[in-house]
Amino acid sequence: MAVIAFFELEGWEKAHIRNRLLGHDVVFINGVLDDKNIAEAARAEVLGIFIYSKLGPKQLGQMQHLKMISTFSTGFDHIDMAACNSRNILVSNVPAYGSQTVAEHTVALMLALAKKIVLSAERTKQGNFSIEGLRTIDLYDRTLGLIGFGKIGSHVAKTAKALGMHVRIYDPYADPNLVELLNCKLVGLDELLAHSDIISLHTPLTPQTKYVINAESIAKMKKGVLIVNTARGGLVDNKALVDAVLSGHVGGAALDVLEEEKAIKEERQLVSPEFSGAFDLRTVVANQILFNKPNVIITPHNAFNSQEALKRILDTSLDNIEAYLRGKPVNLVNNKEAKGEGKMAEKEKPSKKTARKGPKPAAKKAKAPAKKKAAKKPAKKAKPAKKKAAKKSKKKK
Ligand code: NAI
Repeated sequence: MAVIAFFELEGWEKAHIRNRLLGHDVVFINGVLDDKNIAEAARAEVLGIFIYSKLGPKQLGQMQHLKMISTFSTGFDHIDMAACNSRNILVSNVPAYGSQTVAEHTVALMLALAKKIVLSAERTKQGNFSIEGLRTIDLYDRTLGLIGFGKIGSHVAKTAKALGMHVRIYDPYADPNLVELLNCKLVGLDELLAHSDIISLHTPLTPQTKYVINAESIAKMKKGVLIVNTARGGLVDNKALVDAVLSGHVGGAALDVLEEEKAIKEERQLVSPEFSGAFDLRTVVANQILFNKPNVIITPHNAFNSQEALKRILDTSLDNIEAYLRGKPVNLVNNKEAKGEGKMAEKEKPSKKTARKGPKPAAKKAKAPAKKKAAKKPAKKAKPAKKKAAKKSKKKK
């Protein structure tokens, strides 16, 4: 029997989790993992968390029995991977639960920006039916630049093509066949920046992608460019974005993710005497300025939040835990070389049947670097303490 602790649940998941993990000591802890409630998880061998629970060396040090973390998310930058590796703690994520879900939100944000939907709706709610200042742009025939062409980026590309857009892609590991199939164009980053009317971000947050949108890259963009970010806040230097929005160089931005987004939920804490300086206040202020601009749309990290996606997230997270308990962990993320990071899961690719095959690009295709080969075999799998006690899971719906 393993002790399995869950944080950040809403309630509707609990009965389902208990059923799936029968025979184990399942602990539900209210809210985000923090200094106050972490002791309740001290016995846990397995941890189920969402992205607002930060796990660094300090927190891991307080969970001496921990062997496996199942994050209920695709992104895992809330978990200190080096600290996990040093303790041989396995981390599994949810690699795919509906890239379409996030792609739909991205396209919704693109359309909302281009068509000034939020501003128009706010005005009419106040009884103002004037169309002054509400002139919009067409997406048809415009160029969308996608930084990152994995599961989500490729679904955005497919929808953008259906809207009649030209799509340029910067992704050193993009699948060139899929790029061609969707009638998009692989380009270098500078070319994408210079030619895109809208730029949308779809990479993980890594040292290479951190602040990919900064003062220097913004200076290379077209005046009036629209920027959409549904990936991670750290991809955009918000201080630079504020300057560009205020100067008009950036015509609008739609952000589902923000650096220091947690601070927005905890504003009261910022002015409390106990405030520990956990947030970068310049970024928090920059966020506040963006909030107040009519040409900036901010959604609360909600792109994943569809009914269908949540059920898939829960089931995959529990599959990950059960696989670990059987001694055959899956969806590991702290074993990247072996897993070929960025590789698109077959079932998540837009299918060849449904993807509209357009004419081949007349110009020579931009050469994409070959996808990195998985160099090594997966590292030795860690065994759970008492894997035999793991009961068979109930059949999923
Ligand atoms: P993915 O792994 O399928 O695709 C990521 C792509 O980024 C890969 O094709 C990879 O080659 C590319 N990439 C990596 N480094 C790059 C670089 N330096 N420059 C350009 N491209 C690079 O991931 P997926 O599923 O498409 O998700 C993308 C991101 O979206 C996630 O990492 C996560 O942070 C975010 N996300 C946000 C959600 C939300 O609710 N707002 C929900 C789910 C994911």
